Amino acid sequence: MEGVSDQTLAEWDRAFLWHPLTQQQSLRDREPLPIIVGGEGCYVFTKDGRRLLDAVSGLWCVNVGYGRSELAEAGARQLRELAYYPLTMSHPRAIELAAKLAAFLPDTPHIYFSNSGSEANEVAFKVVRQYWKQRGRPNKVKILSRARSYHGSTLGALAATGQPERRRDYEPLAPGFLQVAAPYCYRCPFSLAYPACGLACAEDFRRRIEIEGPETVAAVIVEPVTAGGGVLVPPPDYLPRIQAICQEYDVKLIVDEVVTGFGRLGRMFGHQLYGVRPDIVTLAKGLASGYMPIAATAFSDEIFEAFLGAPDSGRHLRHVNTFGGHPVAAAVALANIGVIEREDLCGRSREQGRKLGAWLRESLADVPQVAEVRGEGLFIGIELVEDRGQKFPLKDRLMRTIYRHALTRGVIVGRSADVEAGRNNILILAPPLVIADAEMEALVDVVRESLVATFREAP
Ligand SMILES: Cc1ncc(COP(=O)(O)O)c(C=O)c1O
Repeated sequence: MEGVSDQTLAEWDRAFLWHPLTQQQSLRDREPLPIIVGGEGCYVFTKDGRRLLDAVSGLWCVNVGYGRSELAEAGARQLRELAYYPLTMSHPRAIELAAKLAAFLPDTPHIYFSNSGSEANEVAFKVVRQYWKQRGRPNKVKILSRARSYHGSTLGALAATGQPERRRDYEPLAPGFLQVAAPYCYRCPFSLAYPACGLACAEDFRRRIEIEGPETVAAVIVEPVTAGGGVLVPPPDYLPRIQAICQEYDVKLIVDEVVTGFGRLGRMFGHQLYGVRPDIVTLAKGLASGYMPIAATAFSDEIFEAFLGAPDSGRHLRHVNTFGGHPVAAAVALANIGVIEREDLCGRSREQGRKLGAWLRESLADVPQVAEVRGEGLFIGIELVEDRGQKFPLKDRLMRTIYRHALTRGVIVGRSADVEAGRNNILILAPPLVIADAEMEALVDVVRESLVATFREAP
């Protein structure tokens, strides 16, 4: 299919390829989606010859940037050596990657591999339920999560997701999942202000555990910083409070690091910012920087040991997947982690994130629709409102216009989408961690120009 013309590709794209989160009718009626054919550093290249600054790193995953030949070579080498074997036996790259992750995560050193963030969370839910059954507490099955959080697209992970718009058309979802309030200080669900609030949002977990009965609650799952729900950065003592509540009621703490892992927040893992020690950590996206699909779920000694027993004890994990820990993906993940460590991309994320946040605040200070610029490391949210006093969220239609203006100016920005009806008003920036000052300057200019152009046109 080497010689397929641009026009044919566009036609086939419209006819045969069903894209996520996309109204396909608009592809027919208006413009086709850009067709991406290459990438280098923070840029991707389109088939029609444009160069776009990717300020969302694909889907917040290309942490080391595009075009890293050492990752490609690691994959090619592994394909020649051993293209595939499942982990019903073992192979060196999966062993090495598990050991590497265990060294980073000494509290959760037992690693189960899968293929996506959704699946990594499903594994966490299944294991924690089996764990409580094997500990003689079969009623501990409920999983608590939070409003606005996203944990994946499969029916269990979606049930843990606190985004009504995402869930709506797929219900009924898996039973046994309940949501509590989000740590959303700008729009506090309790109309309180930190620190006088006494962390009412964290205490909402306690309330829910007591209402349900602690003997029915298996685990709590949180993202260190709520990602797709709008870059909700919690107060510093929020996660420690949740950990304390979990310990008090004998509930396991699952930290979803699918987005926040591998330097995104300026630490190797986001929970390290808050000094908590989870029982389970889930990883995906940045694990191989999107060069290959791979995910992992990391478990504590205590959970892992509850699965040990005689061959006929029935205590082994009954979850299996064909491709989990795929040798090529594991080889690429090892090379990717090598780059993150060698180039200190966690430090770089901290440093560049601080600058980008400050530059955005300065540049956007006189745009009345910019309510808040918040973030951690190179993960930044810009909350947009109709006016700062009323805090009415900016309309979806205008969010789409901002996105289009940025794209026209050569920048791909992200935005919260399908979270809560009428409350999808946060622009999201998460560029590759290698982004340079000059690229950030260009990004800030384009964000400003896109906002100004949108509001100039807006009725
Ligand atoms: C916090 C979080 N968890 C889980 C997932 C699901 O990951 P995947 O799309 O790889 O299934 C995502 C995806 O964006 C996410 O943001």
